[in-house]
Amino acid sequence: MWTINAQERIPEVEALLRKMTLEEKIGQLNLLTPGGGVATGEVVSKNVEAKIKAGQVGGLFGVAGPDKVRVAQELAVKESRLGIPLLIGSDVIHGYKTTYPIPLGLSASWDMDLMKQAAQMAAREATADGINWNFSPMVDISRDPRWGRIAETAGEDPYLGSKTAEAMVKGYQGSDLAAAHTLLACVKHFALYGAAEAGRDYHSVDMSKIKMFNQYLPPYKAAVDAGAASVMTSFNDIDGVPATGNKWLLTDLLRKRWGFDGFVVSDYTSLNEMIAHGLGDLQAVSTLALKAGLDMDMVGEGFLTTLKKSFDEGKVTEAEITDACRRVLEAKYISGLFDDPYRYLDSKRPEKDILTKENRALARKLAAHSFVLLKNHNDMLPLGNKGKIALIGPLADSRENMLGTWAPTGDFNLAVTVLEGFKNVASEANIQYAKGSNISNDPEFAKKVNVFGPRIEVEERSPEALLKEALDLAKTSDVVVTVVGEATEMSGEAASRTDISIPDSQKKLIRALVDTGKPVVLVLMSGRPLTIPEEFELPVAILQVWHPGVEAGNAIADVVFGDYNPSGKLTATWPRNVGQIPIYHSAKNTGRPAPENEEFQKFKSNYLDSPNSPLLPFGYGLSYTTFEYSNLRLNKETIGQGESISVTVTIANTGDYDGEEVVQLYLRDVVRSITPPKRELKGFQKILLKKGERKEVTITLFPDDLKFYNSTLEFVSEPGEFEVFVGTDSDAQLSKTFTLK
Ligand code: NOJ
Repeated sequence: MWTINAQERIPEVEALLRKMTLEEKIGQLNLLTPGGGVATGEVVSKNVEAKIKAGQVGGLFGVAGPDKVRVAQELAVKESRLGIPLLIGSDVIHGYKTTYPIPLGLSASWDMDLMKQAAQMAAREATADGINWNFSPMVDISRDPRWGRIAETAGEDPYLGSKTAEAMVKGYQGSDLAAAHTLLACVKHFALYGAAEAGRDYHSVDMSKIKMFNQYLPPYKAAVDAGAASVMTSFNDIDGVPATGNKWLLTDLLRKRWGFDGFVVSDYTSLNEMIAHGLGDLQAVSTLALKAGLDMDMVGEGFLTTLKKSFDEGKVTEAEITDACRRVLEAKYISGLFDDPYRYLDSKRPEKDILTKENRALARKLAAHSFVLLKNHNDMLPLGNKGKIALIGPLADSRENMLGTWAPTGDFNLAVTVLEGFKNVASEANIQYAKGSNISNDPEFAKKVNVFGPRIEVEERSPEALLKEALDLAKTSDVVVTVVGEATEMSGEAASRTDISIPDSQKKLIRALVDTGKPVVLVLMSGRPLTIPEEFELPVAILQVWHPGVEAGNAIADVVFGDYNPSGKLTATWPRNVGQIPIYHSAKNTGRPAPENEEFQKFKSNYLDSPNSPLLPFGYGLSYTTFEYSNLRLNKETIGQGESISVTVTIANTGDYDGEEVVQLYLRDVVRSITPPKRELKGFQKILLKKGERKEVTITLFPDDLKFYNSTLEFVSEPGEFEVFVGTDSDAQLSKTFTLK
């Protein structure tokens, strides 16, 4: 744990603060991006250089590589009056150069060890390139797949989200933040960013405190408890005050209630955006944000340009500025930057640490573990390494769509396409490719998606010609594998969709391929849950692969050809239609629950035109083998407050393959003072079972697992009956009850 005991401040930092002018303190609160690299002439903004020298910059991002970072660091260390080194930030969201699956995919592995390894690898690579601060993990809960940034989350569940948050923070930060291969984590986006109304990015958030505390805040708290060094505010407002200027959020909750001792940075110009939110001019919002508890201002320079004036006018105090500055300096101290500002700048490290064979092997493993087998009609998968395979679809040979959204440090040119992966892994098979369709036929839509370069290419050949070529190939093949879904930038920031189905061009292709009568495997790529009710009804196999990263093709081939038996489980519910959104497994019963059999009943909580149940529940995912659950038992029937209880179940691998299973435990608090969810995830274990093997799995429910935030926001457990469910997904049927005295 790196955090500082506020009572014992760091003497070196205190001594430095005593030497600093007010302007220099304000300078430390300024985070800039020169947009490319400080050392490369043209892209160096003159102002950034001058500001660093003038002591007006606390950190940079968008600068990487030991040599470039050294130039920036030398400006600060050698040419500013006090020589205070810079924080060097970056968005290392799913791997640095060795890009691994998008976070939503990674979370589907439910494998905390693997996630930690992923974060460690990312930290090693990023620090080798001079980065000492990472704008990750993003731990926002999202129950709205229309929101493009659900791709960057661990899904809908606060329990799983908390475990993931902890694993990532520990992976990035290790046990010594001054070590050359660890970096400061930044938990984001605080808070509730994933609950934007109607799934539209940056939209308002309005939520009860009870929902906040029980459903949305736990992962941020888990990250803070794991020792995260910094927190980034979110763009949205909460209770009418934007997070960046929200004192209740940043001071009362984060610092006072949770004891957070690190520093808080705004999101990109989120300070300035408080003007558009309607809270006043730049000086007013900067004052508000500082007083609320914001320490560092990303890009907008509101602090830099107005705080001195506000001080002169008596609107902020020097103590408030000093507090913020102290927190930034303490982070630098803990990173070891005061000891050696160049500690992350070893020019031999990139070659040694980045994109190594081991790292690529890990990325391949992470990808394979993130895939979710949604359907396996006739046990079509895995395929044999033989015969003629038609590999069809706009994503089958599309290098630029393999990494997934927000991989700014990665390079898609290094990605393995599905076609290449198939050829690598299934060398005995005859693999032939046809594109079959465009990702979308709509040039206007393509233009919006292609902001970072071509991701959707609308071919000059007509859709009919594309389709014909594919069908000709399919008809002469033994099996068809079609790789379809979303282009990389169809999810991510400012990439919300109101229709989350597979685009029409590809739907048509799928239907036509199935009509050939050949066995068809859908490899489905997306950054979000999709609505696929029609495709799901088809006699096909469906493997959901998200956006898998740099080893995409190899990992997909590993699973399709059975070198790895898929074990991923959905971490966000897949709705039947967008009208069901928000949809999540831990919903409440209501006073008029719909009947179990989902038959429509008037005056019950249901729809005229859709069942309530999702297409695919949270926690869902198949395997090439089958698992049987039996003999659920508890070690006690009654427990007292503060006691734990063990839940044991027997699981047998009854199929033909070795396989991994995520054993999931859900809990229902039957009666309590505020309406309980029907069930909530409260434990899981991922196990490997050899073919024919049987294992006992025990999951312990600890006292905190029985607690919730009540109407006065105290974290309590209330006496009464609890029902435990254990099984393969959130519809788990085996159940037992116990009583809390
Ligand atoms: C805006 C995004 O919301 C945030 O996640 C990211 O870290 C910053 N930009 C910096 O790139």
